[in-house]
Amino acid sequence: MARLSDDFIREIKYRNDLGELAASYMQLKRRGRNLVGLCPFHGEKTPSFNIYTENGSFYCFGCGTGGDVITFAMKIENLDYMEAVKFLAERAGMSLPEDAYDDSLGKLRTRIYEANREAARFFYQKLVSPEGSEALSYLRQRGLADRTIRHFGLGYAPDERFALGNHLRQRGFTESELITANLVFKSRSGNSVLDRFYNRVMFPIIDVRGNVIAFGGRIMTDQKPKYLNTSDTPVFNKSNNLFSLNNAKNSKSDALILCEGYMDVISLNQAGFTNAVATLGTALTPDQAALMKRYCKEVIICYDADEAGQNATVRAIDILRRVGLIVKVISIPDGKDPDEFIRRHGDKGHAAFQNVLDNSGNDMDYRMQKLRSGYDMNTPQGKLGYLTEGVRLLCELDNPMERDIYASRLSDETDVAKSSILEQIKNGMKRRSYNRRKSDFSQIQKDISARDDRVNPQHAAYLRAATAEENLIAFLVNNPDKLTYIHEKLRPEDFTTDFNRKLFEYFSKRILNQQDPMTALASDFTSDEQSKIVRMVNAGSDMPRTVQALDEYIAVILEEKSKPTENEIRNSTQDEFTDLFSRLKDNHQ
Ligand code: GTP
Ligand code: MN
Repeated sequence: MARLSDDFIREIKYRNDLGELAASYMQLKRRGRNLVGLCPFHGEKTPSFNIYTENGSFYCFGCGTGGDVITFAMKIENLDYMEAVKFLAERAGMSLPEDAYDDSLGKLRTRIYEANREAARFFYQKLVSPEGSEALSYLRQRGLADRTIRHFGLGYAPDERFALGNHLRQRGFTESELITANLVFKSRSGNSVLDRFYNRVMFPIIDVRGNVIAFGGRIMTDQKPKYLNTSDTPVFNKSNNLFSLNNAKNSKSDALILCEGYMDVISLNQAGFTNAVATLGTALTPDQAALMKRYCKEVIICYDADEAGQNATVRAIDILRRVGLIVKVISIPDGKDPDEFIRRHGDKGHAAFQNVLDNSGNDMDYRMQKLRSGYDMNTPQGKLGYLTEGVRLLCELDNPMERDIYASRLSDETDVAKSSILEQIKNGMKRRSYNRRKSDFSQIQKDISARDDRVNPQHAAYLRAATAEENLIAFLVNNPDKLTYIHEKLRPEDFTTDFNRKLFEYFSKRILNQQDPMTALASDFTSDEQSKIVRMVNAGSDMPRTVQALDEYIAVILEEKSKPTENEIRNSTQDEFTDLFSRLKDNHQ
């Protein structure tokens, strides 16, 4: 990868204040010198996301993600390193240096976007050619206007096994690019390279920046699989993209309509509801919920009326609520899915669906109703079952007014005094919050220590040394003027763990060259490494960094290094062992 100059990166960082950039995606509050907020990278209800304004870094104590403004842009906009640099440069009105683009992953991604775009063009041409007449009439028969077909760039993959591959090779794409894009694949024998999609109606999947990132293809008969989707590629991950978000993000509505299928979204668009999106053949993920949260405040779930759809609704409510979205639920009357509903109403599709929308219930109404339908309310056991589960549901509500409203309803429905229902909720909430805090905390600790082990595999075995080394590195980065003082007492060889030694050398060199230590973090370290470094450097940032503390770190590092390792002990002869033993004793005096 072309390495961008330090000056350029520093300029990017100077012109893109992390706090200000983050504030355009999330709410931040000032706490001392830092800014805190709800982490945009995982769902949480109490803020663990910190921005350290002094050195322009962030760290989330909830999910252990950390880095600088470039890392933040990468994660929040789903970009690779060079794309993030470009994004920030454009945001600040800067132009990129000429040679900034010869990074191989970035180049490959660009090639895949180009191949996908060309493939979409090919599929569309086939659809409107004689070869595609059957596919075109299939789409028209499903009620799609030609304008809609064009708008979504729908197409047809012809009933041949080499058509797209040949076409794209003629256009200069290499076999390996096409395989990586998942447009073709090697046959099992390895002798031929076949098109992934054939004899299917094609739905291009386009991201919010207008790139064609993948395809879904529908068979026109009732053969299986009904839909075939692009597998994950360097530009596509089905669990953090949504179909038609590129259209929905421009709609004026504050809400998104979440459907199950491509055809639902397309029909809704044609009927004037451009704020519809769909998952890509999987259940809704927390990443997709977080993505929606960036474009709306409210999500209206509009899944199929069948049992699978209704069960998926309950799970989706939970996931959407967790990221702080307001959730509503639509039940499609007299129909299977939104697509069929709209088609059934013909010209009046818009008005009919608007009416359904206006009557959408909120998610709690939906969950209570669904719960209640599972019990026979004419028997005491039925009522008790409903009451017990209902209370459990209400315990999950953070809003006391909301709890009160539904406690009233529960009381009316079961003839149990509201006061005793509220009492039960209170107890349930205490238990729940205690359990949750306990399990959240231990999960976080587990995740963070797993990452620490990945980044610095010697960390656990040499805990005392590693801790002192990390404290020393934090000290150095925050007090670069102490470089000479530290180097008079400590050499890189004195470090016990390899990763920390590498870090010590890295920061020392930058400080020696009068570079800001943290500037090139995002280009020089992996995402895991950055998270660890940022946590290390900002740990205890409220405590004074005294020279006494520094001397203590140095002393511990030297002491730990002089300890013989287990291997040394095992392999040593008796004489050496006696010698080692006395060294050990000396250390402990
Ligand atoms: P139509 O029959 O074309 O109206 O399909 P639909 O949009 O109503 O789809 P359905 O409710 O059957 O499924 C919803 C979504 O799940 C589809 O849009 C696809 O994204 C996905 N899906 C459906 N069938 C398959 C399948 O066989 N394989 C995969 N990978 N995804 C599927
Ligand atoms: Mn359908």
